[in-house]
Amino acid sequence: MQNINSRPIGIFDSGVGGLTVARAVKEALPHERIIYFGDIAHLPYGDKSEAAIQAYSVKITDILLAEQCKVVLIACNSASSAAYELLKAYAGSKAKIINVIDPMVAYVTRRFPNRKIGLIGTKRTVQSNIYQQKIENARRGISLVSLATPLLVPMIEEGFLDNKISDAVIARYLDEPALRNIEGLILGCTHYPLIQDQLRDHYQGKVPIIDSSTQIAAALKGYLMSEGLLSESPPQEPDRFLVSDYTEAFESVAKLFFRSQVQLEKYALWE
Ligand code: DGL
Repeated sequence: MQNINSRPIGIFDSGVGGLTVARAVKEALPHERIIYFGDIAHLPYGDKSEAAIQAYSVKITDILLAEQCKVVLIACNSASSAAYELLKAYAGSKAKIINVIDPMVAYVTRRFPNRKIGLIGTKRTVQSNIYQQKIENARRGISLVSLATPLLVPMIEEGFLDNKISDAVIARYLDEPALRNIEGLILGCTHYPLIQDQLRDHYQGKVPIIDSSTQIAAALKGYLMSEGLLSESPPQEPDRFLVSDYTEAFESVAKLFFRSQVQLEKYALWE
Protein backbone atom coordinates (compact mmCIF):
# COMPACT_ATOMS: atom_id res chain seq x y z
CA MET A 1 0.00 0.00 0.00
CA GLN A 2 1.17 3.55 -0.85
CA ASN A 3 2.39 5.89 1.87
CA ILE A 4 -0.71 7.88 2.88
CA ASN A 5 0.83 11.29 1.97
CA SER A 6 1.38 10.27 -1.65
CA ARG A 7 -2.14 8.92 -2.09
CA PRO A 8 -4.36 10.92 -4.47
CA ILE A 9 -7.15 13.40 -3.80
CA GLY A 10 -10.47 12.14 -5.19
CA ILE A 11 -12.79 14.80 -6.60
CA PHE A 12 -16.21 14.20 -8.05
CA ASP A 13 -19.09 16.04 -9.69
CA SER A 14 -22.07 15.24 -11.87
CA GLY A 15 -20.10 16.35 -14.91
CA VAL A 16 -17.25 18.59 -15.87
CA GLY A 17 -18.31 21.57 -13.68
CA GLY A 18 -16.32 20.25 -10.71
CA LEU A 19 -13.20 20.78 -12.79
CA THR A 20 -13.39 24.44 -11.67
CA VAL A 21 -12.71 23.11 -8.16
CA ALA A 22 -10.07 20.63 -9.42
CA ARG A 23 -8.30 23.55 -11.12
CA ALA A 24 -8.21 25.54 -7.87
CA VAL A 25 -6.94 22.46 -6.00
CA LYS A 26 -4.15 21.99 -8.55
CA GLU A 27 -3.14 25.63 -8.19
CA ALA A 28 -3.13 25.55 -4.38
CA LEU A 29 -1.59 22.08 -4.08
CA PRO A 30 0.63 21.35 -7.09
CA HIS A 31 2.23 18.31 -5.42
CA GLU A 32 -1.05 16.49 -5.02
CA ARG A 33 -2.21 13.97 -7.59
CA ILE A 34 -5.92 14.09 -8.36
CA ILE A 35 -8.37 11.50 -9.57
CA TYR A 36 -11.48 13.19 -10.89
CA PHE A 37 -14.80 11.49 -11.56
CA GLY A 38 -17.48 13.23 -13.65
CA ASP A 39 -20.79 11.37 -13.64
CA ILE A 40 -21.78 12.66 -17.05
CA ALA A 41 -24.15 9.71 -17.59
CA HIS A 42 -26.36 11.04 -14.78
CA LEU A 43 -26.01 14.79 -15.31
CA PRO A 44 -27.74 16.94 -14.14
CA TYR A 45 -27.86 15.94 -10.47
CA GLY A 46 -29.71 19.13 -9.64
CA ASP A 47 -33.04 17.77 -10.94
CA LYS A 48 -32.66 14.28 -9.39
CA SER A 49 -34.12 12.94 -6.14
CA GLU A 50 -32.00 12.86 -3.01
CA ALA A 51 -32.05 9.03 -3.10
CA ALA A 52 -30.70 8.90 -6.68
CA ILE A 53 -27.89 11.36 -5.91
CA GLN A 54 -26.99 9.38 -2.80
CA ALA A 55 -26.77 6.12 -4.79
CA TYR A 56 -24.49 7.69 -7.46
CA SER A 57 -22.35 9.39 -4.84
CA VAL A 58 -21.78 6.18 -2.86
CA LYS A 59 -20.84 4.30 -6.03
CA ILE A 60 -18.35 6.99 -7.06
CA THR A 61 -16.89 7.16 -3.55
CA ASP A 62 -16.33 3.39 -3.73
CA ILE A 63 -14.31 3.85 -6.91
CA LEU A 64 -12.25 6.67 -5.39
CA LEU A 65 -11.62 4.66 -2.20
CA ALA A 66 -10.51 1.69 -4.32
CA GLU A 67 -8.03 4.13 -5.93
CA GLN A 68 -6.68 4.75 -2.39
CA CYS A 69 -7.75 8.40 -2.25
CA LYS A 70 -6.86 9.99 1.10
CA VAL A 71 -9.61 12.61 0.70
CA VAL A 72 -12.83 12.61 -1.31
CA LEU A 73 -13.87 16.13 -2.24
CA ILE A 74 -17.50 16.44 -3.32
CA ALA A 75 -17.09 19.15 -5.99
CA CYS A 76 -20.84 19.50 -6.48
CA ASN A 77 -23.32 21.46 -4.40
CA SER A 78 -26.22 19.14 -5.26
CA ALA A 79 -24.29 16.07 -4.08
CA SER A 80 -22.91 17.97 -1.07
CA SER A 81 -26.46 18.84 0.01
CA ALA A 82 -27.89 15.36 -0.66
CA ALA A 83 -25.09 12.98 0.27
CA TYR A 84 -22.39 14.55 2.49
CA GLU A 85 -23.56 13.08 5.82
CA LEU A 86 -24.11 9.68 4.20
CA LEU A 87 -20.66 9.64 2.56
CA LYS A 88 -18.99 10.62 5.83
CA ALA A 89 -20.59 7.63 7.55
CA TYR A 90 -19.86 5.41 4.55
CA ALA A 91 -16.17 6.25 4.22
CA GLY A 92 -15.60 6.15 8.00
CA SER A 93 -11.88 6.26 8.70
CA LYS A 94 -10.88 5.28 5.14
CA ALA A 95 -10.88 8.84 3.78
CA LYS A 96 -11.83 12.35 4.82
CA ILE A 97 -14.93 13.64 3.02
CA ILE A 98 -15.00 17.37 2.21
CA ASN A 99 -18.03 19.17 0.79
CA VAL A 100 -18.21 22.47 -1.11
CA ILE A 101 -20.83 24.12 1.09
CA ASP A 102 -19.06 24.47 4.46
CA PRO A 103 -16.01 26.40 3.13
CA MET A 104 -18.37 28.79 1.29
CA VAL A 105 -20.54 29.34 4.37
CA ALA A 106 -17.42 29.98 6.49
CA TYR A 107 -16.21 32.57 3.97
CA VAL A 108 -19.56 34.35 3.56
CA THR A 109 -20.28 34.54 7.27
CA ARG A 110 -16.81 36.00 7.83
CA ARG A 111 -16.88 38.53 4.99
CA PHE A 112 -20.54 39.57 4.66
CA PRO A 113 -22.09 39.93 8.15
CA ASN A 114 -25.45 41.77 8.31
CA ARG A 115 -25.86 41.81 4.52
CA LYS A 116 -28.55 40.62 2.15
CA ILE A 117 -26.94 37.86 0.10
CA GLY A 118 -28.37 36.00 -2.90
CA LEU A 119 -27.73 32.38 -3.78
CA ILE A 120 -28.22 30.72 -7.14
CA GLY A 121 -27.98 26.96 -7.52
CA THR A 122 -29.73 23.84 -8.78
CA LYS A 123 -33.23 22.87 -7.64
CA ARG A 124 -31.77 20.17 -5.35
CA THR A 125 -29.40 22.60 -3.62
CA VAL A 126 -31.98 25.38 -3.23
CA GLN A 127 -34.77 23.05 -2.07
CA SER A 128 -32.47 21.40 0.48
CA ASN A 129 -32.27 24.77 2.32
CA ILE A 130 -28.82 23.76 3.47
CA TYR A 131 -27.12 27.12 2.88
CA GLN A 132 -29.99 28.83 4.72
CA GLN A 133 -29.65 26.55 7.73
CA LYS A 134 -25.87 26.78 7.94
CA ILE A 135 -25.84 30.56 7.50
CA GLU A 136 -28.58 30.97 10.14
CA ASN A 137 -26.66 28.73 12.54
CA ALA A 138 -23.65 31.04 12.22
CA ARG A 139 -25.82 33.94 13.59
CA ARG A 140 -24.05 36.71 11.68
CA GLY A 141 -27.19 38.66 10.74
CA ILE A 142 -27.05 37.58 7.07
CA SER A 143 -30.34 37.47 5.23
CA LEU A 144 -30.11 34.87 2.46
CA VAL A 145 -32.44 34.75 -0.55
CA SER A 146 -32.20 31.81 -2.94
CA LEU A 147 -33.22 31.10 -6.50
CA ALA A 148 -33.05 27.81 -8.42
CA THR A 149 -31.55 28.44 -11.86
CA PRO A 150 -31.83 25.04 -13.55
CA LEU A 151 -31.21 26.21 -17.13
CA LEU A 152 -27.68 27.33 -16.34
CA VAL A 153 -26.03 23.90 -16.02
CA PRO A 154 -27.12 22.50 -19.42
CA MET A 155 -26.29 25.85 -20.99
CA ILE A 156 -22.77 25.78 -19.57
CA GLU A 157 -22.18 22.06 -20.28
CA GLU A 158 -23.03 22.84 -23.90
CA GLY A 159 -20.32 25.50 -23.88
CA PHE A 160 -23.11 27.98 -24.54
CA LEU A 161 -21.44 30.97 -22.95
CA ASP A 162 -21.09 34.61 -23.68
CA ASN A 163 -23.74 35.09 -26.37
CA LYS A 164 -27.09 36.84 -26.61
CA ILE A 165 -29.11 33.82 -25.57
CA SER A 166 -27.00 33.04 -22.51
CA ASP A 167 -27.10 36.73 -21.56
CA ALA A 168 -30.90 36.67 -21.84
CA VAL A 169 -31.18 33.54 -19.68
CA ILE A 170 -28.89 35.06 -17.05
CA ALA A 171 -30.81 38.37 -17.07
CA ARG A 172 -34.15 36.55 -16.76
CA TYR A 173 -32.94 34.81 -13.60
CA LEU A 174 -31.04 37.68 -11.98
CA ASP A 175 -33.93 40.10 -12.51
CA GLU A 176 -36.29 37.88 -10.48
CA PRO A 177 -37.82 39.85 -7.58
CA ALA A 178 -36.35 37.31 -5.13
CA LEU A 179 -32.84 38.60 -5.86
CA ARG A 180 -33.66 42.30 -5.65
CA ASN A 181 -31.19 44.51 -3.73
CA ILE A 182 -28.72 41.77 -2.90
CA GLU A 183 -25.25 42.80 -1.75
CA GLY A 184 -23.42 39.68 -2.90
CA LEU A 185 -24.25 36.61 -4.99
CA ILE A 186 -23.14 33.12 -3.98
CA LEU A 187 -22.42 30.76 -6.86
CA GLY A 188 -24.06 27.69 -5.30
CA CYS A 189 -23.07 25.41 -8.16
CA THR A 190 -19.60 24.44 -9.31
CA HIS A 191 -20.53 25.04 -12.95
CA TYR A 192 -21.22 28.72 -12.48
CA PRO A 193 -17.64 30.11 -12.27
CA LEU A 194 -17.63 29.78 -16.05
CA ILE A 195 -20.26 32.51 -16.37
CA GLN A 196 -18.84 34.66 -13.61
CA ASP A 197 -17.94 37.50 -15.98
CA GLN A 198 -21.45 37.66 -17.45
CA LEU A 199 -22.96 37.67 -13.95
CA ARG A 200 -20.63 40.47 -12.90
CA ASP A 201 -21.43 42.44 -16.07
CA HIS A 202 -25.14 42.06 -15.42
CA TYR A 203 -24.66 43.88 -12.12
CA GLN A 204 -22.16 46.31 -13.71
CA GLY A 205 -19.60 45.15 -11.19
CA LYS A 206 -21.67 46.49 -8.25
CA VAL A 207 -22.53 43.14 -6.67
CA PRO A 208 -19.65 40.87 -5.58
CA ILE A 209 -19.87 37.43 -7.19
CA ILE A 210 -18.83 34.88 -4.59
CA ASP A 211 -17.13 31.84 -6.07
CA SER A 212 -16.17 29.05 -3.71
CA SER A 213 -13.41 27.21 -5.59
CA THR A 214 -10.49 29.02 -3.94
CA GLN A 215 -12.14 28.71 -0.49
CA ILE A 216 -12.62 24.98 -1.04
CA ALA A 217 -9.02 24.49 -2.13
CA ALA A 218 -7.87 26.46 0.92
CA ALA A 219 -10.04 24.29 3.21
CA LEU A 220 -8.54 21.15 1.69
CA LYS A 221 -5.01 22.51 2.09
CA GLY A 222 -5.74 23.44 5.72
CA TYR A 223 -6.97 19.93 6.43
CA LEU A 224 -3.96 18.22 4.79
CA MET A 225 -1.55 20.51 6.66
CA SER A 226 -3.21 20.04 10.04
CA GLU A 227 -3.22 16.26 9.66
CA GLY A 228 0.32 16.06 8.24
CA LEU A 229 -1.05 14.55 5.02
CA LEU A 230 0.46 16.86 2.39
CA SER A 231 2.31 15.13 -0.41
CA GLU A 232 6.00 15.84 -0.04
CA SER A 233 7.03 15.57 -3.69
CA PRO A 234 5.46 15.99 -7.13
CA PRO A 235 3.19 13.11 -8.15
CA GLN A 236 4.86 10.10 -9.76
CA GLU A 237 1.79 9.31 -11.84
CA PRO A 238 -0.41 11.60 -13.95
CA ASP A 239 -3.78 12.89 -12.80
CA ARG A 240 -6.78 10.90 -14.06
CA PHE A 241 -10.13 12.16 -15.30
CA LEU A 242 -12.78 9.45 -15.28
CA VAL A 243 -16.22 9.97 -16.80
CA SER A 244 -19.26 7.68 -16.77
CA ASP A 245 -20.07 8.66 -20.36
CA TYR A 246 -17.80 10.00 -23.05
CA THR A 247 -18.10 12.15 -26.15
CA GLU A 248 -15.48 14.37 -27.75
CA ALA A 249 -17.68 17.38 -26.98
CA PHE A 250 -17.21 16.73 -23.25
CA GLU A 251 -13.47 16.72 -23.71
CA SER A 252 -13.48 20.20 -25.25
CA VAL A 253 -15.83 21.55 -22.57
CA ALA A 254 -13.58 19.92 -19.94
CA LYS A 255 -10.67 21.91 -21.30
CA LEU A 256 -12.63 25.14 -20.78
CA PHE A 257 -13.31 24.26 -17.15
CA PHE A 258 -9.84 22.94 -16.27
CA ARG A 259 -8.03 25.57 -18.34
CA SER A 260 -5.67 22.97 -19.79
CA GLN A 261 -6.00 19.83 -21.88
CA VAL A 262 -7.53 16.84 -20.09
CA GLN A 263 -7.83 13.34 -21.38
CA LEU A 264 -11.13 11.86 -20.29
CA GLU A 265 -11.29 8.10 -19.61
CA LYS A 266 -14.60 6.31 -19.88
CA TYR A 267 -15.41 4.41 -16.66
CA ALA A 268 -18.90 2.90 -16.45
CA LEU A 269 -20.50 3.35 -13.03
CA TRP A 270 -22.50 0.17 -13.37
CA GLU A 271 -21.50 -2.68 -15.72
N1 DGL B 1 -22.09 21.07 -10.40
C1 DGL B 1 -23.33 20.70 -9.74
C2 DGL B 1 -23.51 21.51 -8.49
O1 DGL B 1 -22.58 22.15 -7.99
C3 DGL B 1 -24.57 20.91 -10.53
C4 DGL B 1 -24.73 20.24 -11.78
C5 DGL B 1 -25.90 19.33 -11.83
O2 DGL B 1 -27.04 19.71 -11.62
O3 DGL B 1 -25.60 18.18 -12.08
O4 DGL B 1 -24.60 21.52 -7.95
